[in-house]
Amino acid sequence: MLVGKKILIGITGSIAAYKIISLVRLLKKSGAEVKVVMTEAAADFVSPLVLETLSGNKVLDALTDASTWANHVMLGRWADLILVAPASCNTIAKMANGQCDNLLLAVYLSATCPVWIAPAMDEDMWKHATTKSNIAKLESYGNRVLDVEEGELASGLFGPGRMMEPEELLTEMEVFFRGNSFAGKKVLVTAGPTYENIDPVRFIGNHSSGKMGFALAEAFYMQGAEVVLITGPVQISTKYKGIIRIDVVSAGEMYDAAHQYFPQTDIAVLCAAVADYYSPEQSNIKIKKQPDRQGLDLHLEETKDILASLGNKKSNSQVVVGFALETNNELENATKKLHKKNADIMVLNSMQDKDAGFGKDTNKVTVLFANGETIATPVLSKKDIADFIVEEIAKIEK
Ligand code: CTP
Repeated sequence: MLVGKKILIGITGSIAAYKIISLVRLLKKSGAEVKVVMTEAAADFVSPLVLETLSGNKVLDALTDASTWANHVMLGRWADLILVAPASCNTIAKMANGQCDNLLLAVYLSATCPVWIAPAMDEDMWKHATTKSNIAKLESYGNRVLDVEEGELASGLFGPGRMMEPEELLTEMEVFFRGNSFAGKKVLVTAGPTYENIDPVRFIGNHSSGKMGFALAEAFYMQGAEVVLITGPVQISTKYKGIIRIDVVSAGEMYDAAHQYFPQTDIAVLCAAVADYYSPEQSNIKIKKQPDRQGLDLHLEETKDILASLGNKKSNSQVVVGFALETNNELENATKKLHKKNADIMVLNSMQDKDAGFGKDTNKVTVLFANGETIATPVLSKKDIADFIVEEIAKIEK
């Protein structure tokens, strides 16, 4: 998303300036071009030489440099995004009032691209009425002021005023520059296992980690879709706050949630490892060991099939994608499932491959289309597999 994007970072005098070293590295790793402008005070907190080396560009800090003139207008026009980070109280006040006594302020006033401001200051300064009004002014001019975080401040006090962490700043930029192949589309993804309780302390579940479903939700979101992610119990989270996450536990709860969102959905991808059976007679108390009986018989009944139900309900404009986990006769079984459940695409996961399956970070799939075509991937990261599946879905999008 950030490949080739031109990011201009303006650093001001604040302890948080050291964090920009990590941010520049992260941005360069993501393929962005980075230029850095500093105020005079910023150089007391972070070395221009380090930033110059990491960004691969000369760090600029003055309007004139012996014999050369820093063209602030061209710098302001070069950037796709300007981030003032950390933005000190002083620079925020100057920006809000149109002052122009250093290169960074001149670049800001010449900017034709979006400008983001990541404040960093002590709690009392952050809460001061003047700062509040300066921030409101900057926002009213169309700038984006990023949230400050709560935590230990440079003063040793604890409170709001910490600058956003570099990883989060990067995530915000990734989202800002996300693709638009699915812009305006509503996507529903199910992920993870389901747990079917048998008593208050025990359940029947499976080893699904949710990684593949989360990777799919993120891949759609990063192509501009509005995403609802319905997930069973998992230990992972998504870094994109814009993804609407609905947590469920059982197959019944997942069925209800999926049916609630399906009417407003353009594409449903059912990646969850839904339990096929549940215990209809859940005990309200812990089932005790019964030494006089040989073992324990559990009566289980079939859960409702979410994919089959949505496959049958889908309109001509809705796309429904299922996953098939097979251990034998893989293609044949997956093809049967594709037709039986009236899906548009079935993604076959093989249990035969050591690099694919539950809990792994890699996967290998075969995508089966309703018209009989198939396409197989090599072993790839779950992120790359997700991107691949999303591209294949884009091809048949109705
Ligand atoms: N699925 C579902 N609801 C269920 C069971 C499965 O929506 N109650 C969906 C899964 O999310 C997946 C697809 O059906 O997209 C296939 O799941 P899989 O477990 O491979 O197939 P089953 O139909 O359960 O058949 P079997 O376990 O007998 O292979």
